[in-house]
Amino acid sequence: MCGIIGYAGNRNAVPVIVDGLKKLEYRGYDSAGIAVFGADGFDVVKQKGRLAALESRLEGSVIAGNVGIGHTRWATHGEPSDVNSHPHVGSKSKIAIVHNGIIENYKRLKERLERKGVRFVSQTDSEVIAQLAEYYYKGDLMDTVIKVSGALEGSYALGIMCLDEPDLLVAVRKDNPLIVGVAEHGNFIASDVPAVLKHTNKVYYLEDGEIAVLTKDGADFLNMDKEPLKKRLETVSWSFDSAEKGGYPHFMLKEIMEQPKVLKDTIHSVMSNGENKSVADGLDISAFDKIVITACGSAYNAGVVAKYVFERLCRVSVEVELASEFRYKDAVIDGKTLVILVSQSGETADTIAAMREAKSKGAVTLSIVNVIGSTIAKEADYCLLTSAGPEIAVATTKAFSAQLVLLYVLAARFAVKLGKLPPESFAELMSEFETLPDKAKEIFEHIDLIQKHASECVVCKSIFFIGRNIDYAIALEGSLKLKEISYIHSEAYAGGELKHGTISLIEEDTLVVAISNCKRLYGKIMSNVEQVISRGAKVLLIGCCPEAEPSSYDGKLSYIGLPEITELFSPSLSVIVLQLFSYYVAANKGLDIDKPRNLAKSVTVE
Ligand code: G6P
Repeated sequence: MCGIIGYAGNRNAVPVIVDGLKKLEYRGYDSAGIAVFGADGFDVVKQKGRLAALESRLEGSVIAGNVGIGHTRWATHGEPSDVNSHPHVGSKSKIAIVHNGIIENYKRLKERLERKGVRFVSQTDSEVIAQLAEYYYKGDLMDTVIKVSGALEGSYALGIMCLDEPDLLVAVRKDNPLIVGVAEHGNFIASDVPAVLKHTNKVYYLEDGEIAVLTKDGADFLNMDKEPLKKRLETVSWSFDSAEKGGYPHFMLKEIMEQPKVLKDTIHSVMSNGENKSVADGLDISAFDKIVITACGSAYNAGVVAKYVFERLCRVSVEVELASEFRYKDAVIDGKTLVILVSQSGETADTIAAMREAKSKGAVTLSIVNVIGSTIAKEADYCLLTSAGPEIAVATTKAFSAQLVLLYVLAARFAVKLGKLPPESFAELMSEFETLPDKAKEIFEHIDLIQKHASECVVCKSIFFIGRNIDYAIALEGSLKLKEISYIHSEAYAGGELKHGTISLIEEDTLVVAISNCKRLYGKIMSNVEQVISRGAKVLLIGCCPEAEPSSYDGKLSYIGLPEITELFSPSLSVIVLQLFSYYVAANKGLDIDKPRNLAKSVTVE
């Protein structure tokens, strides 16, 4: 994971880089560091802990320079510590680097260099890059970068500075994202667009094997044969405000509250003429005899919801696979399989590998991605873009909701093409679909109630989520959200499965969150509710259940009602309550909601 940034310009790089790192902290927050050219060589300040700790160290410090690099770390090799923090500088103090990725052959390279007398100071894989670059450097940084790239195995996005060429900032990537931002006062490299949005929305997306050479005056691009490349400067539609908290205490709450708009924008993107609609319309579903959805984390949960929707509407069987499993299972797929990759970042290592595996077997790949220019967006045969805008909180909310929307529309369009859904029913379904943003807004009227229930859960050791069918699918996401940010153990179970094990964990006052939007299964889920209540549990029922009678459960049942909507779209409403519930549990515990411990948003390592 990790976030990197670099700047070459007219301004002092230190505050510019620190500010950019704030927008990359979602990628890792075990330590942070910065290096600039000072009067006597590199000035490097690096510090274990959050970026705030680095900021305190920098307060009152006099370091300044017009070219610099910065890093925020999610530790892989070597514990979080000052010495393992980036930037890493070679032992001759000639080359400084920041690295996102993993160098798989670092041990071999390190041993080779140690035999030549190079002394390493950290336990990281990344230090080998700085040491190797110094070893290769013969007066031309570009030649060095090309040689280093040839020697490294694994993945990397690198920012590199050299003492003998102090005006240059060089960047190169393989399998990790890197953009180049062009502003009036200078030029940037960064792991992601929000890091530069304050300064510019004009970016180049660097590809594998391309080298970017930045000075304060511009950016040039070369290939590994040192030949110049012409790249297209893209304009990003995300605004600077969209990557700011805008008065909310946390990005997560802001992003939850943005969902009605995100739903509206994403619906619009696929219903009105444009790229998304033509992709969704263009796919000939009859060419496939199998659909596989593969993803990680919440994106996987979106796939589980979609399985119910696709199977119900299209009457085709759909497999949902964790990308980390799919990539190694020798999947039974071929040219008649449509593989759908779902990913907010478009950079999740396992999802990228799953996509490449699917392509190598001849399957057709369709991605649903939030970040334009990301690896999955670019490499998949087809791409649908979610209109969630930048998502900063580590726990995804609005991007998940946008993914669901695109998956619903895809399923409905496929159903029409397969002759399983008459055009009139499609039109009816879509007009209901368009009510989603307003109904999502209605949920915010219950915020006080959600907050009250959440405040009672701070002491819970375990919370269970149950549902049946599509409600079970969204229960998975409710449970994941809660454990991610509140550190309360939680599991999601299909209601019918409770009695096969989990019910033994129910004790006096254990909280069970039951989701109920499937009218035909209301009686079934209420039987599960009775079963757990009779064993001492308290139940929070979430759904559209006008027949619910909390008063007849002796204070053991509470109810949060949802606006009525067709069962197929109900996860989009349930999930907002579940997100708010998790958010307020974590807020009541006083936790660092946007940066939960040990997690990172963009998981670019296996
Ligand atoms: C991390 C994030 C999750 C996300 C998952 C997959 O675990 O914390 O919120 O769902 O990665 O990420 P992707 O970018 O592929 O959707």
